[in-house]
Amino acid sequence: MIIAKTLEEFDNALGSLGKVGKLGLVPTMGALHEGHMTLIRRAVAECDAVVVSDFVNPTQFNNQNDFNTYPRTLEADCALLEPAGVNILLCPRVIDMYPEGSGLDTRTFDLGGLDQYGEGPRRPGHFNGMAQIVTRLFDIVKPDLAYFGEKDFQQLAIIEYFVKNLNYPLTIVRCPIARAADGLALSSRNKLLTAGQRAAAPHIYAAISKAVDMVGKVSVADAIKTVTDDIDSDSHLETEYVEIINALTLEPVTDWSQAEHIQLSCAVYARPVRLIDNIKLK
Ligand code: PAJ
Repeated sequence: MIIAKTLEEFDNALGSLGKVGKLGLVPTMGALHEGHMTLIRRAVAECDAVVVSDFVNPTQFNNQNDFNTYPRTLEADCALLEPAGVNILLCPRVIDMYPEGSGLDTRTFDLGGLDQYGEGPRRPGHFNGMAQIVTRLFDIVKPDLAYFGEKDFQQLAIIEYFVKNLNYPLTIVRCPIARAADGLALSSRNKLLTAGQRAAAPHIYAAISKAVDMVGKVSVADAIKTVTDDIDSDSHLETEYVEIINALTLEPVTDWSQAEHIQLSCAVYARPVRLIDNIKLK
């Protein structure tokens, strides 16, 4: 595996691979765990060469403390990536990705209104910042396939939207959520939980799973209330939101018949850590 720390090193690394059939890209912010590895192993299996990027993108953090405390574990990441068969690890500095300097990136993206719900209003600027880095990565790496996890359900829908809208010649591959044996969705932020919070956190998936059986039996509003109360009954957890949405438009539904595909998504604090999860209801 070649480790490229600058864009020049990346160009050289890509050149050294010669002519590549299908090039895969797996963008990450590092602090790799088994959830990331499911995407990476799939990319290695499906592509002729794979680039993983490891970059904690400052423009998508709306909370400076979250950016500062985000785990950075480059050495451990390399130890996971090398045996997985990744060809290039791109781990650039901020200045390489945003050479414009302190203004970082001023581009505003059309996100098709998909940022109006869920994480959007709670994390102002987050999805625009995410689009800034993801488009930069697409422009630099020029992959044929790019892999993203359904853990970040809204992010994935937004990426699919702008890829289509901006005519990027690549395929987005959707990958299912990888969970710990106790149900907790794997996340780099899980490393920040105290032992008590970690023990409580599987309650999130347990509670949202119960909503699957509520479809068509109780009202959408009652389902949201039951799930919210269930999570909040745990003293380590505090829901920020529980939404039941049209899985394609991400718009909250008020009735089960309002959409063919329905998803429940939530954000829950185990303070100060914020966890997100989602599940298909229909
Ligand atoms: P990060 O949170 O590091 O996640 C990188 C990729 O791994 C994302 O596509 C995410 O959905 C996926 N992923 C994380 N945990 C997962 C899990 N438990 N199961 C399945 N997939 C999982 O998402 C980002 O970084 C950034 O926003 C990024 C796209 C890299 C842009 O900066």
